Amino acid sequence: YLLGIDVGTGGTRALILDESGTVIASATSDHAPFASPHTGWAEQDPDDWWRACRQAVPRALEQAGLQASDIVAIGLSGQMHGATLLDTAGAVVRPALIWCDQRTQAECDQLTERIGAARLIELTSNPALTGFTLPKLLWVRRTEPDAWARVRHVLLPKDYIRFRLTGRMATDVADASGTLLFDVARRTWSSEMLAATSLPASLLPEAFEGPQVTGSLTAEGAAAVGLLAGTPVVAGGGDQAAGAVGMGIVRAGAVCATIGTSGVVFAATDRPALDPSGRVHTFCHAVPGRWHVMGVTQAAGLSLRWFRDRFGSGGSDGRDPYERLTDEALAVPPGADGVLWAPYLMGERTPHLDASARAALIGLAASHTRGHVIRAILEGVAFSLQDSFTILREMQVPVEAIRLGGGGARSALWRQVQADVYGQSVQTVAAEEGAACGAGLLAGVGVGLWPDVDTACDRVVRVTSEVTPGEGAAVLARQYLAYRALYPALKQVQA
Ligand code: XUL
Repeated sequence: YLLGIDVGTGGTRALILDESGTVIASATSDHAPFASPHTGWAEQDPDDWWRACRQAVPRALEQAGLQASDIVAIGLSGQMHGATLLDTAGAVVRPALIWCDQRTQAECDQLTERIGAARLIELTSNPALTGFTLPKLLWVRRTEPDAWARVRHVLLPKDYIRFRLTGRMATDVADASGTLLFDVARRTWSSEMLAATSLPASLLPEAFEGPQVTGSLTAEGAAAVGLLAGTPVVAGGGDQAAGAVGMGIVRAGAVCATIGTSGVVFAATDRPALDPSGRVHTFCHAVPGRWHVMGVTQAAGLSLRWFRDRFGSGGSDGRDPYERLTDEALAVPPGADGVLWAPYLMGERTPHLDASARAALIGLAASHTRGHVIRAILEGVAFSLQDSFTILREMQVPVEAIRLGGGGARSALWRQVQADVYGQSVQTVAAEEGAACGAGLLAGVGVGLWPDVDTACDRVVRVTSEVTPGEGAAVLARQYLAYRALYPALKQVQA
């Protein structure tokens, strides 16, 4: 049996797969909500992740009715970009600045000015963005010199768990890609970036390919989670790359569109494909020798959640509130009779890279209903993901098969809206557990259960349904053009 551990934002999930890749148990232990001592800040205590891991793993084992000796390998995945700062003894120096922390605009501006926007993309394949790890390190160095003086090691969130489990400091190339210190094209740390920012290489752990074994459980690590000392731990991947493995998005041409809180369009590539203006991230894949590009919509599922929280879900009959909402939208034709939603509730990454963008609902008439607004939200989120597909096409990244993930894949209406807007058929797969499942598959490859990641995915990932574009596609193609005109128009009004 294989164990996948995903150190998420809300909680840590432990998931157990059997040799056929079937999920037989999954347990999550919640994290304390992240602290936001100032607007835009987001911090978590790494030892809380470790506490959650120590709870989730034994629970999953118990659920599966397994013993410690049944687990042959462990894979790790986790929230990306977070700066976990350790002292010489490996103790946490200050709370981690996590992926959604936005305090580092000044550091990003300085990096871009000093190194140059084009040179940054040459060196790291990406522009300086507030979420990435390097600007966070520079912020701590500038504003908390006493804390910084004690920092000897920087780890990504899941790699702190690896350290507690194995005593080894290591990371994987996919997660390392989100630091802005990694030479994504060469799959190694960038000595130029380290030199340009006067950071010593000794701060960073060794970077491995996803399925490579990085160490094994120490007696102490094993005892903490109820497993056997010596159990191998593979590198794994950042949550997006590991989640893509869990959905079988491993070869060039395969793309997934995942609507969770945020929305991600993730395309596997066999080269580091670049967008010269940095609107999509270019990162290493958790599959050796492959890369991926990824476009991010900040408020995808969050748009619908916001509507539910602010305006209610239309009843209290005990049904799933999102099902009730999407049922209301069923009565409304594609195109929502002209109502349009621009989903910029949290600013936007792709394509606008604009933290100050704001959402809008336009085209309302007295005849419009809640159902129109809900349908417009489903369509607006899909339009925003279509912006990422449009960029992929501009970059000549092939999009042959699209698989849907997250909450957006669970609604029949949202699946149809996505097929109509993307203008291509979309598939769902039996891989609800995403990143932890991908981490488990990487562990299986690491100990030779499958010869490589492609084979693991071919044997394990099952397509469960396929939806083709329908009658709504033509209306939505026209509506998408109107959507494209919205952001520049809104920008003028805001200014
Ligand atoms: C990826 C990203 C998020 C985090 C959250 O760039 O910011 O997916 O990894 O889990």
